[in-house]
Amino acid sequence: MTTHTLVDQLSQTTRDAQAQMAAAHDAQALEAWRVEFLGRRGRLSQLMQQLGALSPEERRTAGAEANRVKALLEGLLAQGQRALSERDAAGKLTSDRIDVTLPGRPVALGRLHPVTQTVREICAAFAGMGFDIAEGPEVEWERYNFDSLNIPRDHPARDMWDTLWIDWTDPTPQGRRMLLRTHTSPMQARIMEQAKPPVRVIVPGKVFRHEATDARHEWHFYQVEGLAVDTGITFADLKGTLYEFARRIFGPDRRVRFRCDYFPFVEPGVDMSIDCFLCKGQGCRLCGDGWIEIMGAGMVHPNVLKGVGYDPEVYTGFAFGMGPERIAMLKHGIDDIRHFYANDVRFLRQF
Ligand code: PHE
Repeated sequence: MTTHTLVDQLSQTTRDAQAQMAAAHDAQALEAWRVEFLGRRGRLSQLMQQLGALSPEERRTAGAEANRVKALLEGLLAQGQRALSERDAAGKLTSDRIDVTLPGRPVALGRLHPVTQTVREICAAFAGMGFDIAEGPEVEWERYNFDSLNIPRDHPARDMWDTLWIDWTDPTPQGRRMLLRTHTSPMQARIMEQAKPPVRVIVPGKVFRHEATDARHEWHFYQVEGLAVDTGITFADLKGTLYEFARRIFGPDRRVRFRCDYFPFVEPGVDMSIDCFLCKGQGCRLCGDGWIEIMGAGMVHPNVLKGVGYDPEVYTGFAFGMGPERIAMLKHGIDDIRHFYANDVRFLRQF
């Protein structure tokens, strides 16, 4: 081996190193390059081992050249590493970029249950006509649920309400019985016992009935009761109030129909229907004859007034009771009352 060939080989190594560095685009290629040219058993160190076989003068020239190539290769490596880390950083800037022009992802908000919404709408409609709002107990005495409403024990009208009784025995000789209220009407007596006329109050609340469920029946549901007692209240006040209510809830074009109906605690008693919004009163699959019944109502029975110490010769009043589920079904075209309490969010999310 002569100086000449060793210096040639160093030049060849330099050219190879430059060419391969130009093609090294990732960390792996860079490391392979380092091992091949600058590694402990790499091409440069192999050439350097050959220096020992040269004469002292030759070694000086070739050695100087070898050191120059070594510095050059190390410079190449450092440059390659810098370029790689710059490319990495630039890549991160692109891949991590946030596009502030993208539309936002909607946040899932909670909402009020459709029955709660309807109860509130009904209450708001009457509050706007001067009614107060009151609530009462769901576990009720038989006396308020029935007796005070002119429905004594063994009265056949009790069959109108399939009652869930509380398993409780009165330790006193009075033999009182407790039940889950079958309607919100017991609040009529509770309110009148506590207040002097004039009374104008709305009572929303949950009621319970021992009933098989189907598309139109649940064993628990809501009612909204209304009561107005004062001097000189007539059936015309009842009609006017409920007509205005129907307009507020169902819109200005609603027509209203009252028909005779029987409830022991009103006289006369009626049920109120609105004209079907689907067929506009023509008669269709939803309504049958063009009318949809939405509540029971009537003039408070003199026996109910007497029972709470109001003089029926001085005071008169009207009462009504409606099912908000029924009203929500009509408003939204819901065909099965059981949807309300199945807790299926796909149903509930629609309201
Ligand atoms: N409480 C009656 C029911 O549940 C409805 C009603 C209330 C009727 C007030 C007349 C007056 O069926």
